[in-house]
Amino acid sequence: MDEYEKIGTKITKVNEVKIPIVYFSSSGNTKYVAQLIKNGFKSANVEAELIPINSTKIQEFKPEENEVFGVGAPVYAMSFPPNMVAWVEKLSSAKNNTKFFLFNTNAGLPGPAIKNFKRILEKKKYRFIGALEIVSPTRDSVFELSSFKYND
Ligand SMILES: Cc1cc2nc3c(=O)[nH]c(=O)nc-3n(C[C@H](O)[C@H](O)[C@H](O)COP(=O)(O)O)c2cc1C
Repeated sequence: MDEYEKIGTKITKVNEVKIPIVYFSSSGNTKYVAQLIKNGFKSANVEAELIPINSTKIQEFKPEENEVFGVGAPVYAMSFPPNMVAWVEKLSSAKNNTKFFLFNTNAGLPGPAIKNFKRILEKKKYRFIGALEIVSPTRDSVFELSSFKYND
């Protein structure tokens, strides 16, 4: 194998890595953003794998085995939702410099959601590389008037 082929092999390996993105989305805003992020990675030749927090795939997800992973959720009461906080608190600590990024969707009042969630992962020695906060039109199912029967 000459030098060129060796480099080629390395590049292929990098491209084979899948970046896990764990997300929660109640009314679809965060799921939509997660898909945009996945598409963004794809345009840079990097595969991402979306893992909904309430799917069975979440049990197999071990953050410490990845080079980088992402977590996204809606903002609830200026925080990541309780289910995401409970999940992240149970994760094992980092072993090999695993990095993470965060994103949320919110209605314009994210407060310290990123700061506080980031701190939990940093205590576990994961390395923060960035965050994205997207203000989205609130169309949460909780407030969706058309879902009430008396509206018919
Ligand atoms: C219970 C609840 C609490 C919320 N609290 C906040 C909040 O503190 N700040 C904010 O900007 N948006 C808040 N929102 C709005 C959501 O963050 C926003 O609609 C989000 O995009 C929903 O994401 P999803 O469609 O992925 O569930 C709240 C929504 C709900 C249902």
